[in-house]
Amino acid sequence: MTSPGQGHFPAVRPRRLRRNAALRRLVAEHRLHPAQLVLPLFVRSGKRLRQAVGSMPGVFQTSPDEALREARRAAEAGLGGVLLFGIPNRKDVRASEAWARQGAVQRTIPLLKKELPELVVITDVCLCEYMSHGHCGVVSGKGASARILNDPSLKLLARTALSHAEAGADIVAPSDMMDGRVGAIRAALDQAGHEMVPIMSYAAKYASGFYGPFRDAAASAPQFGDRRSYQMDPANSEEAMREVAQDLAEGADMIMIKPALSCLDILYRVKSAYGLPTAAYAVSGEYSMIKAAARRGWIDERNVTMESLLAMHRAGADILVTYSALDAARWLGE
Ligand code: PBG
Repeated sequence: MTSPGQGHFPAVRPRRLRRNAALRRLVAEHRLHPAQLVLPLFVRSGKRLRQAVGSMPGVFQTSPDEALREARRAAEAGLGGVLLFGIPNRKDVRASEAWARQGAVQRTIPLLKKELPELVVITDVCLCEYMSHGHCGVVSGKGASARILNDPSLKLLARTALSHAEAGADIVAPSDMMDGRVGAIRAALDQAGHEMVPIMSYAAKYASGFYGPFRDAAASAPQFGDRRSYQMDPANSEEAMREVAQDLAEGADMIMIKPALSCLDILYRVKSAYGLPTAAYAVSGEYSMIKAAARRGWIDERNVTMESLLAMHRAGADILVTYSALDAARWLGE
């Protein structure tokens, strides 16, 4: 295939522009910048708590005070923002701590906003970390007949998002994949006077094996069954487009796609079709695979991390949520 204006070898030699670093830099089509990186943080109640997550080297569960230190590093590195996840003291079947005023996330937000007003604070809105059964919605029935109820979950999700907005969150990001949750959250926010708080919807979120290490980090593994009745089947892409269209119709301001590396086609299509601010989430398994292989000396962590992030950006992601955000920002500065 020849594109317009393109001739043939030997007149045309693409290698001319790859001859040295300066030339390559000049003609680079895509560049990464720290401002587009978002660092996920796992917060739990307590003080001076910093507990390593075994399956994710370099990732910690922290108390709000330690989360502030981590967020300060993020701000100093010029990152765009942080994404907060909460780990409750106690789990129940109503996800009480997800929307509690004194929940770990609700207490961390004002700390960050007071000390680091320039750093965008995004909150993950979901119930799985807070539910004793580990599902992202309300469950009815037991054993093989257990079902994840859609509509009753919306109320709890909206309540959770509202509690984050009330605490001062800049953006709320629902990741539960219940139908209609963006609309429910938008209505709840607007009703309470938070009509200017944007929603970043995990619109196309696949049921993925790549979330494995996260469930260790957030202690949110489902106690029975799996998430395939609400997260998307990796076999589908048209469905992803419909999910995005629906979330936009319900009032989503930004779209998140996850996982990232296994969804580059979706990223490309969504960005091309809507042109909205689009985020890719390089999830826990993507991070841990790189860490594990790098530790054995099988791949170069920096190379593979930056190449992956660049691929997500090239595919259409403006915003990159990654556990490597601090390292990546440092590498970009070198
Ligand atoms: C909560 C949620 C999950 C992730 C983000 N939000 C876990 C899941 O859906 O099982 C995964 C993030 C990661 O793997 O890094 N529903």
